[in-house]
Amino acid sequence: TPRIFSGIQPSGNLTLGNYLGALKRFAQKQDEGIETIYCLVDLHAITVWQDPEALKRQTREAAAGFLASGIDPSRSILFNQSQVSAHAELGWALNCVARMGWMNRMTQWKDKAGKNAEKQSLGLFAYPSLMAADILVYHATMVPVGEDQKQHVELTRDIAAKFNHDYGVDFFPAPLPLIEGAATRVMSLRDGSKKMSKSDPSDASRINLTDDADTIAKKFRKAVTDPEPLPETVEGLEGRAEARNLVNIYAALADMTPAQVLGEFGGQGFGAFKPALADLAVSKLEPISTEMSRLMNDPAEIDRILGEGAAKADEIAQPILAKTLEIMGMIRSR
Ligand code: TYM
Repeated sequence: TPRIFSGIQPSGNLTLGNYLGALKRFAQKQDEGIETIYCLVDLHAITVWQDPEALKRQTREAAAGFLASGIDPSRSILFNQSQVSAHAELGWALNCVARMGWMNRMTQWKDKAGKNAEKQSLGLFAYPSLMAADILVYHATMVPVGEDQKQHVELTRDIAAKFNHDYGVDFFPAPLPLIEGAATRVMSLRDGSKKMSKSDPSDASRINLTDDADTIAKKFRKAVTDPEPLPETVEGLEGRAEARNLVNIYAALADMTPAQVLGEFGGQGFGAFKPALADLAVSKLEPISTEMSRLMNDPAEIDRILGEGAAKADEIAQPILAKTLEIMGMIRSR
């Protein structure tokens, strides 16, 4: 039976990239009636130091982002990772299955560690193995993510296959990455070759889900583009990363294809397109940021929702963890 798992790090502001690449699609999957489990991965966030008070606030704010994007805690399980200890426990077991060489090949590790691998936490290196545990501890079959997480989901498949092979079982299903829609890789508004990211030092490079209408409009107006008008066809976006990015964002926000967007705006300059994009973005995002700030007025209610979600998640995860440890030869006598 299909079961979806996905997660977001509560390590800073949620961005338009997180919304279009993940949150909006998470809500769609829930509405299609598939079993959906969504997680604020606080154990992943601490692979780089987080101020403890800030981590709490960011976790609640990310939870508010899920709720405001349409995640309904009575239809989806929504929780923070550290409240379900099975993630960390299966993570350890999978650390003993995964190979150092596999971790070394992860492009996100290479980007983050750079020439400073020696100074990174051991947790940052092992991060993809914990991510595999997140998915496998629910026997999840589908993982909606943005393009940048594809390699980690593929690694999860390799870890599942090696576990099954090493212990001669057919226990962990191989999960499929779901990478769909026009905005699987939203780029920086300042540089079309860089991913839009909550960790980019330039705030103008991204739209935050908490930005107000004026800020959103200003950031789109100032977005870096070339001077040519928009092409009539998608092929005409070749070699125009910034133009392609804005067209993809428009398409994803409007539930259109990029070709349909160009059908409407092809031949027009950015002087016309950017204000239309800004208006569309404000109309879609303002209700979300308004709802997020309303929810943030009641942090105890958010904590209650996360606790309830964690209890439900635990019920699914515990038996799968127990079976895993038993397969590996651990005595289970309490
Ligand atoms: P994170 O927190 O970096 O991002 C959360 C989700 O948002 C997507 N995303 C984007 N999509 C399109 N364009 C962008 N610019 C953009 N930036 C981020 C990401 O692809 C992701 O889907 N390792 C994960 C968190 C994680 C996880 C998991 C995900 C931990 N365990 C298990 C799935 C399943 C991460 O750091 O995502």
